[in-house]
Amino acid sequence: MTSHLRPTRHFTPRSTWMNDPNGLVFLDGVYHLFFQTNPEGVDWGNMSWGHATSPDLLTWTEHDVALRFSEQEAVFSGSVVVDHDNTSGLGEGDAPPLVALYTSHYEPGSPRTGTQAQSLAWSTDGGMTWRRHPDNPVLCRQSADFRDPKVFRHPTGWVMVAVEAVHRQVVLYRSDDLLDWEHLSTFGPLGSTEGIWECPDLFELPVEGGPRTAWVLVVSLGSGGPAGGSGTQYFVGDFDGRTFTPLPGDTGQWLDVGPDHYAAVSFDNTGDRRVMIGWASNWAYAGRTPTPTWRSSMSLAREVTLRSAADGRPRLHQHPVLPDDLLQHRLVVPPGGRSTLTLTADEGGDPLVLTVDTADDRLTLDRSGCGDVTFSPAFPTVIEASLPEHGGEVDVLVVVDASVVEVYALDGALTLTAQVFPTAPLNTLRVEAS
Ligand code: FRU
Repeated sequence: MTSHLRPTRHFTPRSTWMNDPNGLVFLDGVYHLFFQTNPEGVDWGNMSWGHATSPDLLTWTEHDVALRFSEQEAVFSGSVVVDHDNTSGLGEGDAPPLVALYTSHYEPGSPRTGTQAQSLAWSTDGGMTWRRHPDNPVLCRQSADFRDPKVFRHPTGWVMVAVEAVHRQVVLYRSDDLLDWEHLSTFGPLGSTEGIWECPDLFELPVEGGPRTAWVLVVSLGSGGPAGGSGTQYFVGDFDGRTFTPLPGDTGQWLDVGPDHYAAVSFDNTGDRRVMIGWASNWAYAGRTPTPTWRSSMSLAREVTLRSAADGRPRLHQHPVLPDDLLQHRLVVPPGGRSTLTLTADEGGDPLVLTVDTADDRLTLDRSGCGDVTFSPAFPTVIEASLPEHGGEVDVLVVVDASVVEVYALDGALTLTAQVFPTAPLNTLRVEAS
């Protein structure tokens, strides 16, 4: 029995495989989450876009597959924008069309096999049905690893960030109509380059406590992540409509220091709010997690803001959209203190232990005694992280939803996401301070 492992507030697919969030978009009061799925099984393959919607980012309804694989084309990751001014000409009537840019991964049956290129699909019924454009692919550079387009509106037009995954580069393009794209610039390699680069995002945020705004470039890494396996880094800098320039000395920071947060990207069309969702798993073991009737969960949706850190460098803070019906606890640890929070099942079994030590500014999540840890040797059982520089006490929020645990420290300056597979629900919480 694994039904107790299915989260209630983190999105999980009904009965299929899932990886990256795709096409996050807010339209007419509805949040749309598309996602990499295999409509025919619980293992990676037949890649297509699944679809779910939510009025509040907490209650999700899964719909029919939005973009289905074909013999010649797998539908890899990408994004959706609301084309408010109908720049694409694909709208009907007064309602703006939704336009998806996604990666066509061409299969051996295709004349383009061996390449990945960017294709366009659009919807005029609020995201429920999609048509592929007859001129697809709309952007090709004869590359085998050119993927994951994330498109956003900029005063200069539409801007796309995508990756040359193996080269560890983000490539930037510009378009007036979402159909014709011109190359702007190339960023990287920089920061962590151990793993291939995937699923970029680029957005602007005000810097709290500072007089200006800054741009954040998010890049996921297939391996070399902070807890082993895959992970996500970000750079802070400037974007002038052509080139992203990191701040002097910026070599990247981790978006989440846990093992299970990947391919995080933000919603289109949420106004001044910037909301991200990541995939709460890790390529090192995602295919082996012990939930045989579905695979993987998304993270909670997180609003992100930029704030100047103690060293003067802007840092992302993440705040979850938080339901009140999940097990959660706030710890405040004084300077030089140590608190241990232990979560167990009713009978006291399956301990999951979080230790926050402010004497050496370390945070440790020990899942070694918590249920199934043997399904993959790559599943790390003790996760350690250093707290960023701070002055004084440390606040920590812990949220538990069946098989996903999220930890937010220092008002979301550090987050740690980890999966756990206890044999019974973790519903008892004990805190000891010393
Ligand atoms: C990232 C990724 C993407 C690709 C997709 C395929 O997890 O490898 O680069 O588009 O998954 O499922």
